[in-house]
Amino acid sequence: MFIILTFVFIFYIFYSFIYKNVVYRQKVAIGPMPLPIIGNLNLIKSPHIDLTKLGEKYGKVFPLWFGDRYSMIINDPVVFRDTIVKNSMSFISRPKNISFSLVSYGHINILNSEYNQWNRNRGLLKQYFTNNALIKTLSPTVNTQVSTLLDILKRKEKLNEPFKPRFYLDRINMNIILGFVIGKDLGFDLGDPNIMKLNKSLQDTIRLVSLGSPGDYINILTPFYSTYFKLFGSAIDEADNFMSSVYDERRAKYHPDNETHDIMDVLIHALPDPKERKCIVFMCLDLFIAGADANSNLGEWLFAYLSENPMIQEKAYRELVSVFGENGFATSEKKQSTPYFNAVLKEVMRLKPSLALSIPREVTEDITINDVFYPKGTIVIPNIYSINRSAEYWENPLQFDPDRFLDNEFNQAFIPFSLGERSCLGLNFANQTFYTIYANIILNFKFHPAEKVTYEDEASLVIHPKNDNSFILKSRL
Ligand code: HEM
Repeated sequence: MFIILTFVFIFYIFYSFIYKNVVYRQKVAIGPMPLPIIGNLNLIKSPHIDLTKLGEKYGKVFPLWFGDRYSMIINDPVVFRDTIVKNSMSFISRPKNISFSLVSYGHINILNSEYNQWNRNRGLLKQYFTNNALIKTLSPTVNTQVSTLLDILKRKEKLNEPFKPRFYLDRINMNIILGFVIGKDLGFDLGDPNIMKLNKSLQDTIRLVSLGSPGDYINILTPFYSTYFKLFGSAIDEADNFMSSVYDERRAKYHPDNETHDIMDVLIHALPDPKERKCIVFMCLDLFIAGADANSNLGEWLFAYLSENPMIQEKAYRELVSVFGENGFATSEKKQSTPYFNAVLKEVMRLKPSLALSIPREVTEDITINDVFYPKGTIVIPNIYSINRSAEYWENPLQFDPDRFLDNEFNQAFIPFSLGERSCLGLNFANQTFYTIYANIILNFKFHPAEKVTYEDEASLVIHPKNDNSFILKSRL
């Protein structure tokens, strides 16, 4: 038996090597040589940084094997538009793997559903994510949350305590999304064990959908990975239970004439059939998975860059004060009057795009674009990080310089929210919340580093600073 298994394994290694290097290479573009079983996984430790370095060697678009999954990395905004935007139907899908299936209850949500399901689900929500709709529905929650956060920061400042933004920014962004989706507010309490469990479940889920779970890519590991989750459950179970209980409470009180107060209500009205229970639950969870971490991440980097660039911080403050006044409260309705602060936000997003590698797509049919062949099933990874830092499109690309967006507001290589039909649903939501949270912090506080600031990234779906940086706040009033 042992001899047979050894023989099968050696054959498998041989087959895997020949398939990737000989059979496949005849048909497609050339990238680094893949190894049997792991493909090119040995080249990737910090995905967005390593894929950027590989792009310098292999070009604007190149193939890479994630284990047994053939992938194409896109490092250029023109290639991005020619493929994903101009041929949108061929690139509309998301990869089908175990992790994506777990966090979507078998692909029934928005984030990683197949075309028909996605089209229906996104169609139901998109009218609630326009700028005008959000100014009415989102502003009250955002304003309340920001006022609470400012009070907490004022207390901290009085106690002379260094401020570590991660917890507070995670919590405010989670509260804003919770308020919008299910009308709940978790507050800023550190101690509540249920909140901590929910928070942990969502954080672990985000990690689960990040690149790099070997069972998703290496065929011989898939059955083990799948059995493990069947036996022990997965990170999303806690969040699923929480959201399902909210749904059950709401559904029990549902009447077609009831008013809708939040996204959960809207979805129950649109899909009242109890068979849609998990679809609604997982669409609501999507908004946390895609939104909460991405939003708080920007604030962490904003603190890092502005604390080390006091002149830029001061210039943004002066502009905000001139529009909102010394005791004023900044709201995104007046965004047009603060071009410099808008440029600061863009510059942070350029250098540290929250979703550095976007969310991967999967090719739905064989297609050739500008002589590059994309076989059906190819995973496509747009490297937003490298596009946002490309010397071909940006002068001094590594320098933090908001002025670049004043001189030339449009740059085709600025794509933090991706582009096309399946781009970020939460773009307006994110822009409104960033503006209100961070403009009000700058209006109220001057800040400088409490210790050396780290710009090193911790790679996950969303790139955070490796350390929870620490700052000293000084009240402006
Ligand atoms: C800094 C903040 C954010 C950034 C940089 C960001 C970026 C992105 C990117 C790059 C994608 C992938 C799009 C693609 O495949 O082409 C995406 C998808 C998505 N985002 Fe965001 N996002 C942010 C915040 C939010 C927020 C606050 C929400 C919701 C409240 C949200 C909801 C979504 C959803 C639902 C998708 C999936 C879209 C689909 O598959 O149709 N995002 N986002």
